[in-house]
Order: sequence, then structure tokens, then C-alpha cells
Amino acid sequence: MASGLLTGKTALITGAGRPRGIGQAIARAFLDEGANVVLSDLAGVTTPASELTRLTAFPADRVAVIEADVCKPADASRAVLTAQDQFGGLDILVNNAGVGRGSPDFMELTEEDWSASIAVNLRGTAIMCTAAMESLRQSPSACIINVASLSGLRAIPHIPACYTASKFAVVGLTKQLALQLASENIRANAICPGSVRTDMMEIAVEAIAEAEGITAAEAEALEASTIAVGRVAEPDEIAHLAVFLASDNASYITGEALVASGGMYNGL
Ligand SMILES: NC(=O)c1ccc[n+]([C@@H]2O[C@H](COP(=O)([O-])OP(=O)(O)OC[C@H]3O[C@@H](n4cnc5c(N)ncnc54)[C@H](O)[C@@H]3O)[C@@H](O)[C@H]2O)c1
Repeated sequence: MASGLLTGKTALITGAGRPRGIGQAIARAFLDEGANVVLSDLAGVTTPASELTRLTAFPADRVAVIEADVCKPADASRAVLTAQDQFGGLDILVNNAGVGRGSPDFMELTEEDWSASIAVNLRGTAIMCTAAMESLRQSPSACIINVASLSGLRAIPHIPACYTASKFAVVGLTKQLALQLASENIRANAICPGSVRTDMMEIAVEAIAEAEGITAAEAEALEASTIAVGRVAEPDEIAHLAVFLASDNASYITGEALVASGGMYNGL
């Protein structure tokens, strides 16, 4: 139940173009809590604001959509400028854009797998933080939320090493930022989801199915069997954690990597 936890705040969420993705779920939850929201994603992946308003209950005057590649500093600056121009500032940066690619076999990883994983997951996060910093400094209570992964805290079967390494780096970046920015009243935390039902998870499940010689349904059941609560998460369940971290209820929480995995791989 929404209670206006983010009223008066403006958030920029990267990788928020896909209706089934974690980024758009976070956007919906933030809007429910009263925030203004800028959704950004790669060209061709963004859902136009008018469409979002038509398909969902997104209030048109509190939503902006922009095409931006997090790997490009000029795009990152444009996304931040959109928040400033349309809503007068920026209080919350959610670095959600990410790629999951490559073989679970280390020796089969390509140069492209490594460069894309590091460029988007790590450098993209850092580029967005750099672009947003001056705006966040103007906010009375700003925060950065980096969507890392359970793979940012431990090695998990079937996950490509380039993804795991990039997400460990995101957790490290989050902690270092939190340390530096605490005196400026800017918090930085990472969210570490386990398995979440999105387009990215669907691709991962297909890869597991192929590797194990089983069907996609069997692969999903295999995945669920590694989770204490016996099922993967819905994107909204990750969004609830983002709302908490973005709100003033989390004013004493910074530098943390919070797991939302349903107890995956004995993650309790
Ligand atoms: N789904 C899961 O099980 C799971 C688990 C742990 C962590 N995560 C993380 O959650 C985040 C969201 O993933 P998702 O599952 O919603 O997947 P998704 O593929 O639906 O969303 C990722 C989004 O990032 C965007 N993106 C990729 N490269 C980009 C770039 N250079 N610039 C801007 N946007 C870019 C994509 O276009 C896509 O819309 C990712 O960081 C992912 O690593 C997902």
C-alpha cells in the first residue's frame, strides 16, 4: 500500500525500458509513492511516456522518458538534465541497466563478453554517478541505488565469470562511493537480487536448459529448487526494496549490499 514515501523526490532509473524488467517495476513503485520519475534506456528499448501512461496508471506529468546509453557520458548528462529541466533536480539515481552475457565456461568467454559486461555493468554505473553527482549534491537527502546481483556477493552455478566479476565490482564501487559521500548526506547502497522473472532471466533459463539438456520449464524448476522460498522473484518484489532504500526510512543505511533472493543457495 502506497503512502507517499517519495513525494517531492525525483528519480532517474536506467535500463527502465522493458515492461517486464526490474527497472520499470521500480519506476512504477516510485510513482506509486509520489516521486517524479525519469526512465531511461537504449534507443529502441524505451517505452514512450504516452504509452506508459496509457498502459499503466503512470501519471503523465510525473514521468519523463529518455533514450540514453549509460556507457556514453554525453547520454548520461542528457538524462540528468532531463530530470533537472522537467522536475527541477535529482534526488535518487537508480543504476539498473545491465547485461548478462557469455558462457558459464570461463574458457569460452569472448573479448566482447568481457568488454560489454564491464562497460555496461561497472563503467556505465560509474559514468551515471559522475554525471548525476552535482545534481545529487543539491538535494537535501540524495541516494544512489545500484542494482548489482547475488552474483555480486558469491559465485553461482551457470553464471558467466564476466557477469560475476562485474557485479562484485559494482558492490565495491557502491561501498567506496558510500564512504566518500556520507559526509555530504548522499547514501549509496546496492540491491542484490537472486533470480527475478524478467527477459534477462528467461534468456538465462534457456542457457541452463541447453547446458543441462533439459527443457526451459525443467530449468526453471531447477532454479527454483535452489531457492528457500521455492520460487523466483517477481520484479515488484525487488522494487519494494528500492522504495525502502530510496526513502528517508533508510536514512541510516549506506554502503550496504542488500540481498533479495528468497534464500537462494542457502543465502539465509
Ligand atoms: N533478472 C534477474 O534474475 C536479475 C538478477 C540479479 C540482478 N539482475 C540485474 O537487474 C538489472 C535489471 O535486469 P532485468 O532482469 O530487469 O533485465 P532486462 O534485460 O529486462 O533489463 C536490463 C535493461 O538494461 C538495458 N541496458 C543494457 N545496456 C544498456 C546501456 N548500455 N545503456 C542503457 N541501458 C542498457 C537493457 O536495454 C534492458 O532494458 C540488471 O542490472 C541485472 O544485471 C537481474
